Amino acid sequence: MPNALSRGLFNLFFGAKRKPFASLPGPQPGILGTAGDFLGASPWDVCARYGREYGGVTLIWMGPNPGLVLNDPALIAEVYESPRRMEFEKGNISEQIRPSTTDDTAFTAELRGDWVQKRALEPSAQPWAPEALADLVGPMQAAISEFVDALLKQERIDFAPALRRLTFDAFSVAQVGEKLPDQVFEDFMLLARAADARIQAKLPLKFVKPPKDFEAVKARFYGHFVDRIREARKRQDPGAVDLMSRYLRETPGIDDQVLAHMLGGTYFGGAFSSSVTLVGAFHQLNKYPGADARLAAEAASLVADGPLTFQKVESAKWAEAVAYEALRILPAVRVMTRTPPKDAQLAGVTLPAGSMIMISNQHLHRDPAHWPDPDTFKPERWLDGGTTRDPLGSGHFFPFGRGPRACVGADFAMVFLKTALTTIASRVKVQLDSTEPFEEGFFFGVVLPKGVTGKLVARTAQASLKAKVG
Ligand code: HEM
Repeated sequence: MPNALSRGLFNLFFGAKRKPFASLPGPQPGILGTAGDFLGASPWDVCARYGREYGGVTLIWMGPNPGLVLNDPALIAEVYESPRRMEFEKGNISEQIRPSTTDDTAFTAELRGDWVQKRALEPSAQPWAPEALADLVGPMQAAISEFVDALLKQERIDFAPALRRLTFDAFSVAQVGEKLPDQVFEDFMLLARAADARIQAKLPLKFVKPPKDFEAVKARFYGHFVDRIREARKRQDPGAVDLMSRYLRETPGIDDQVLAHMLGGTYFGGAFSSSVTLVGAFHQLNKYPGADARLAAEAASLVADGPLTFQKVESAKWAEAVAYEALRILPAVRVMTRTPPKDAQLAGVTLPAGSMIMISNQHLHRDPAHWPDPDTFKPERWLDGGTTRDPLGSGHFFPFGRGPRACVGADFAMVFLKTALTTIASRVKVQLDSTEPFEEGFFFGVVLPKGVTGKLVARTAQASLKAKVG
């Protein structure tokens, strides 16, 4: 808490500003407002603490500007789902990310601008989306399995970067039908790091310089997809199941540049969040060997008679429960922001235009009033009606956000997660060096697990070792 002098100065200069917000609880502001709480702490931990201490709505002060932290499902629904959602845009985050992405994605579009048109272009909005998704399971399984082969040769693995690259490869096979060269991955990472520097900047954005060759790298990254689209147009492979080929078959008039921007943009939306979810899942599976053994058994039965199919993945109820539980207990995206471009009423006060609204799932995903044994990884809570009690996007479970602007890649992400969990568990045991909670950083708006290291042990080798020992 700021000291008495700092609190006194805030009241002296901004006391009048506080009056209209007197009905709302929150920490005492000092001369910098309450922003000091966020220094040196994870923003999601601060939001969760506010939820525990102040309830569903907390008044914060970013310097002299008021803001809200929401931990109340009804208020969150008002901002995300009700017709009033049109009054709230994503705010700063769009400006921070935009230079690295393009304007041809729903990610940074304005709700009251061309968001509807951008969203309608996304693969998940196409009538062929379910069929396309089903066809991607086999190719993704093959790419993941190939990556497992490479990881098996490594004595020590740092799982966050390793699973990020595995995810990138599986996404590439889904997007364009094959893995992409290292150069494309490196270009993607440079663009992501540039966006991250803007997200984490302590200075105004105009002072944040892009890395050397930023524009050239960006042109090369998206240009790579344009080249592939042009080649695919010439080839016209009627049997190709990747999303690029499907767009070209179903919507041949689509502009090459727009399609390239969408394909390239997918990695920003999904590669970090999906791979971080896998890291969290394997961390918890190491801590709870019973859950791990059950995943391995389900996976073994699913691959026993041949490669994975969409039907098999859909029947993988334990893999689904593991994915849901990882998304509940260690959600990759824990803080989302909204900003009213004009003054807006919320929680009984008038929020001035430009105010920051922070929405976090951290507290609600572990709310003891809602979840029995909330801090324990228990995939079984999702069986026998669990997914109906707390469906994705409901009050206490929204790892993909809520309402019409929730994650556009959620269905794809769920199929990828189940395919990856099943493929990996069928082949290897992920053996971590420690099951102590890992340190959590922040990268590109997504949690970044640090120091999750270990190795892979082939299931067959392990079984034969056990037999030998026995
Ligand atoms: C486990 C994996 C994932 C998680 C946890 C996740 C989480 C989220 C969340 C919480 C939002 C809403 C943000 C907000 O309300 O401000 C979001 C939006 C979005 N996600 Fe995901 N996501 C995942 C995977 C993906 C994938 C695979 C893709 C692409 C195929 C993707 C593309 C997007 C896009 C484009 C948006 C913006 C949608 C819009 O503004 O209309 N995400 N995601």
